[in-house]
Amino acid sequence: MHATAGQSLDFARIPHPSPVPAAERNTLIAAPGFGTVFTDHMVMIEYDADRGWHSATLGPRGPLSLDPACAVLHYAQEIFEGMKAYKLADGTMALFRPEQNARRFNDSADRLAMPNLPEKVFVEAVRRLVLADKDWFPMVEGGSIYLRPFMFASEAFLGVRPAKQYKFLVIASPSGNYFKSGAPAVSIWVSENYTRAAPGGTGAAKCGGNYAASLVPHANAVARGFDQVCFLDAAEHKWIEELGGMNLFFAFEDGTLLTPQLTGTILPGITRDSIIKLAREEGLTVKEGRYSFDQWRADAESGHLLETFACGTAAVVTPVGRVAGAAGEFTIGGGGPGQLTERIREKLVGIQRGTIKDRHGWVHR
Ligand code: COI
Repeated sequence: MHATAGQSLDFARIPHPSPVPAAERNTLIAAPGFGTVFTDHMVMIEYDADRGWHSATLGPRGPLSLDPACAVLHYAQEIFEGMKAYKLADGTMALFRPEQNARRFNDSADRLAMPNLPEKVFVEAVRRLVLADKDWFPMVEGGSIYLRPFMFASEAFLGVRPAKQYKFLVIASPSGNYFKSGAPAVSIWVSENYTRAAPGGTGAAKCGGNYAASLVPHANAVARGFDQVCFLDAAEHKWIEELGGMNLFFAFEDGTLLTPQLTGTILPGITRDSIIKLAREEGLTVKEGRYSFDQWRADAESGHLLETFACGTAAVVTPVGRVAGAAGEFTIGGGGPGQLTERIREKLVGIQRGTIKDRHGWVHR
């Protein structure tokens, strides 16, 4: 069946011949870390230019067989989303703002010349996978089922043009905290020679290529003893952009919260958007604007800047402690989690986990 805007698809259920036995599953999810353990099932939906979206299945997770000429392997036509299924205090599984992921997925698809997937089908695909694999929920601190919807060009063709065939999949990964627990805050190396995205490029899209381009600067930061790399803008190498997989917020002594504005080179984070709304409700003045690396250092040193935190689906809300660039190092506040960072984190996590009332309609049971 075709799925055009707003339409739904029938999902064929393919029985799993050998799901992981409960005892083994419980061992796997006892300390899952991030992104290494995967559930039993996956969703797959096929697209071709003549039929549109068709052949939706929920079946066993397993390897894909691809033609070596498959377009994604050559020209990187690929996009993805990151989202989580949470367990609410009453035991129900829930998604957080899944329609926002569906919308952003289609924005990414537009930028990569890929077909849109109806938002309803996206959310339904994710929902079905969570229901099928709900027993994989890890009962660890910060535990969730991390969901990875993605789409890639599957046509075997070497000419450079948008492919005519695609596959959309959703896989699920029981996860704990993204960062190793124990560290009070993450440290950041600001890269002054590598950039992540240029004006007119794909920085606002969630495509694999953006992450591939961030690997060398990230590895350089790690080699210097830092957890993450922070990117500056590509034109002036001056303005703070993002960490590659996380957005940044800066909290000042006058009650202002600043985050880099969405200029087309930064990923429009759903966690970022939620924090802006929650902080405004707390009475903070939230500004989306430009902030230079030099000003960041000056404000940290003068004490005008109290806190900096990174945020994202995987990272949630993570304090930034130590920051360095070629010219030297500085520390934010006391180098550990600040009060506002903690408050925002508790509020967001509380809503996601159902311990704080959701006044926004963000939690989808
Ligand atoms: C996420 O927060 O979901 C991300 O996509 C960041 C990273 C794990 C790729």
